Amino acid sequence: MTVVALLSHSANLDFLRPLLQAADPSLDVVTWPDPRCLDAEVAACWNSPPGLYAQMPRLRLVHSIAAGVDNVVGEQELRDLPVCRVVDPMLAEGMLQFVLWGVLYFHRQLDLALAQQQRRQWKRPQQTPASACRVGVMGLGEIGGHVVRRLPAMGYPVSGWSRTPREIEGVTMFAGQAQYDTFLAQTDVLVCLLPLTAQTRGILGQRTFDALPRGATLIHCGRGEHLVEADLIAALDSGQLRGAVVDVFENEPLPQDHPLWTTPGVVVTPHMATMATFDVTVQQIVRNIAQLKAGAPLFNQVDLTRGY
Ligand code: NDP
Ligand code: OXD
Repeated sequence: MTVVALLSHSANLDFLRPLLQAADPSLDVVTWPDPRCLDAEVAACWNSPPGLYAQMPRLRLVHSIAAGVDNVVGEQELRDLPVCRVVDPMLAEGMLQFVLWGVLYFHRQLDLALAQQQRRQWKRPQQTPASACRVGVMGLGEIGGHVVRRLPAMGYPVSGWSRTPREIEGVTMFAGQAQYDTFLAQTDVLVCLLPLTAQTRGILGQRTFDALPRGATLIHCGRGEHLVEADLIAALDSGQLRGAVVDVFENEPLPQDHPLWTTPGVVVTPHMATMATFDVTVQQIVRNIAQLKAGAPLFNQVDLTRGY
């Protein structure tokens, strides 16, 4: 029997236990804080309890139950353990839908219409063609890559920024720090689909906002720690940014007294942009456990030297 530990300090992952056991009856699945987790060979995680892997001498695989791995590798003694994540076309499609909604919200000035509704004000916001609304996507991986491939069909001029140079037909590409400011200067709607790493932490701050055209907007679906919340509030206050859709936060759930709940121009969504179905997550974990047992290459293994 392979013991699988469901580890999280912020969520109850016990709902995955029957699904994993149904998918592979040879698994013995236990949920933290059950002390039997310490004997597990496989950890399936979202927000792993800090320092726990160091107490798991039999651990051979760490599997994120999500696309991101930041909260699975951070503050952990990983030894040489492989870390895998979920990659799923439907998850990328869900993000495309969310981003498209955000782009339409700003491009068609629905933010202004909704603010006017609060004042019972009847005034048509100016409408412009999609070709006048330049969308810039930070992060061109499994998710961002899908988004930039699909958005041009709606008529939006789309550009993308990644760490290393790449080519995507129909998309204006930028890479690295050297091209960052040029990328930002031609972006009206900035979309963050980056992973959280030492290099990307705090990237959505004053320096980035100041490099955008005045009145630009933000759709932030990466991780809360990308965003310097005080800088966002200041940029909205000064009019440098017109609005922001923020889906991810440093502290989730967003505390009741957090200023972003009521900052004019901010739409708060509860980390809902996309997620894989539980069936897909379970299939991918079970498949990797089979690979591990067979000594075969793992699927969707993260390169820990890059951090994503
Ligand atoms: P990938 O690992 O497939 O892609 C990451 C992309 O980011 C790559 O294009 C990479 O560049 C780029 N990148 C990484 N570091 C830098 C850097 N320092 N500068 C510029 N570009 C950089 O990730 P996914 O597309 O699968 O997921 C991205 C993130 O989306 C997740 O980590 C998670 O944080 C977030 N997410 C949010 C969800 C939500 O509901 N809000 C749901 C799912 C994911 P290169 O191509 O050169 O390697
Ligand atoms: C993910 C997420 O990383 O839901 O999959 O944020």
